[in-house]
Amino acid sequence: MSAVQRILGFESSCDETGVALVEVTDDAPPRLLAQALHSQISMHQAYGGVVPELASRDHVRRVLPLTREVLSQAGLALHDIDLIAYTQGPGLAGALLVGAGVAVSLAASLDVPALPIHHLEGHLLSPFLSADPPQFPFVALLVSGGHTQLMRVDDVGRYEILGETIDDAAGEAFDKSAKLLGLPYPGGPHLARMAEFGNPQAYELPRPLLHSGKPDFSFAGLKTAVLTQVKKIGEAACDQTRADLAASTQAAIVDVLVKKSLLALKETGLKRLVVAGGVGANARLREQLSATCAKRGVRVHYPELSLCTDNGAMIAMAAALRVQRGMAKPRRDGGFEVRPRWDLSAA
Ligand code: KG4
Ligand code: ZN
Repeated sequence: MSAVQRILGFESSCDETGVALVEVTDDAPPRLLAQALHSQISMHQAYGGVVPELASRDHVRRVLPLTREVLSQAGLALHDIDLIAYTQGPGLAGALLVGAGVAVSLAASLDVPALPIHHLEGHLLSPFLSADPPQFPFVALLVSGGHTQLMRVDDVGRYEILGETIDDAAGEAFDKSAKLLGLPYPGGPHLARMAEFGNPQAYELPRPLLHSGKPDFSFAGLKTAVLTQVKKIGEAACDQTRADLAASTQAAIVDVLVKKSLLALKETGLKRLVVAGGVGANARLREQLSATCAKRGVRVHYPELSLCTDNGAMIAMAAALRVQRGMAKPRRDGGFEVRPRWDLSAA
């Protein structure tokens, strides 16, 4: 590769438009130059969840102004960009098409290549944006709104799935339980805030597959148990009762995530754990994982809080790490496709 490359990254797989600029050289760790993000949360809140058509239209509105903002933050111009990376999938088809379409057209107009990136690879490699990045190999716990997976990561592009959820994702369990508790979308952070005031032992909720002996997950039963409790406590439940239920729900999800992470570490014999994805922002998860892992001599890496949820920096960083390793296969022909469903092990 040439001495310095500047990579512009676009993220548009769901309800966040993210744009970032990363600089990469042959040997030094890639460097984040600037990033900008627009969250659509307030727009979707009225509907209690993401409305795909509205999401796509909003990405159209945001992506170029955010690109201008990023370039201005970095003090650079369009002609300083050497490569444009974009999220190819998985995610909402229409939302992905906006990011991919803009990335590929802008790349063609600048006569630079465009590189598709797997959204989950972005999450997985987001701790490389921190001052103290992990070393390979490591176990990754990927916990987002749509995915819950444990993976063995030997290097960029070498991902082996050790276990995953057979139904709902951990983020979905947070969001659906929060909805039942009358909290706004996306429920995870709201439920976590409410749980701070509750007793995590107040309700005995199921921890499905906890003793399966495999690093797999199931969260659908938990949502049903929360529904049963919500019906029992009724609409007139006081704030303390609701906080107790929120704390008990969070404890059930976190217990499973911690136990299964330990199992994956034991199975692989690895001593490094990387936590990524939106649920990775959860304070109780961080506390419990860090405490349990410290006792076992396992080092845990988290992305910065602001980089746990979707953002453009993780896409530009994943592209930079691929470019640095000579693994990137960018296109210059103006063609593209999106992959709403896409297994990371096939990336
Ligand atoms: O990774 P992400 O931004 O989007 C996907 O790729 O899915 O993750 C979003 C998920 C949502 O389910 C959200 O409720 C959850 O992450 N989340 C949290 C917290 N912050 C975000 N869940 C629990 N506690 C949090 N603090
Ligand atoms: Zn995500």
